[in-house]
Amino acid sequence: MAKNKIAQWAEMDTFPHVVQPKMEDIMKDSVPLKGRWHANFFKNDKPIIVELGCGKGEYAVGLAKKYPDKNFLGVDIKGHRMWRGAKTALEEGINNVGFLRTRIDFIEHLFGPNEVSEIWLTFSDPQRKKERKRLTSPLFISRYRKIMKPGGLVHLKTDSDLLFEYTLEQINDEQYNCSFSTWDLYGEAIKNLDADTAEILNIRTYYEEMWLELGKHIKYCKFQIHE
Ligand SMILES: C[S@@+](CC[C@H](N)C(=O)[O-])C[C@H]1O[C@@H](n2cnc3c(N)ncnc32)[C@H](O)[C@@H]1O
Repeated sequence: MAKNKIAQWAEMDTFPHVVQPKMEDIMKDSVPLKGRWHANFFKNDKPIIVELGCGKGEYAVGLAKKYPDKNFLGVDIKGHRMWRGAKTALEEGINNVGFLRTRIDFIEHLFGPNEVSEIWLTFSDPQRKKERKRLTSPLFISRYRKIMKPGGLVHLKTDSDLLFEYTLEQINDEQYNCSFSTWDLYGEAIKNLDADTAEILNIRTYYEEMWLELGKHIKYCKFQIHE
């Protein structure tokens, strides 16, 4: 075990804006913050936006800086990765972002109905062999539906042709309202976007930088899973 990982996990335990729910609470559907993120964590009524599989949390932190009128939560199972985002938020005094260390599979046990306004999926694992595990599969979308406000947006930014094509198929089959999609975000697409949208879609994650160096095209779409 790398020494710095152990040190990062220990430091994470001291961070006030990092939540690491107990598995027994998840299993009993009794996570104390479920349905109470506004009142007991953010202590305001602003919309909550989650980045699922946040890694180092570039989107959660980048969006939090740009939108102080909203709350952001990075969710990932890997503590040493989210440590980076959590540490940056502390160092820079960004107080509208938190981190939740858990499996995304348990998301419906972590948030109450209508508690989440938007979801960002950033460079999620395409799960080549396990369709059910893809973060835009019907199984995951059914979980998101339980926690999202009607009309809530799901954003997918990915390097993966397979995950992107699969997601477009889901959008088509389920007739989700897709307001924008591109197979080559940094080609023509970004030049035609308004300045705010271009700025947020230009946030680069750790994995994204690696894929860009390999010459991959970045794909993006946003869609609503409710009518
Ligand atoms: C390919 S990385 C992308 C990380 C980051 N979004 C980026 O773009 O740099 C996928 C991340 O999703 C997390 N992840 C994958 N499946 C997960 C699950 N079921 N629950 C929680 N986190 C998961 C991994 O730990 C990893 O940090």
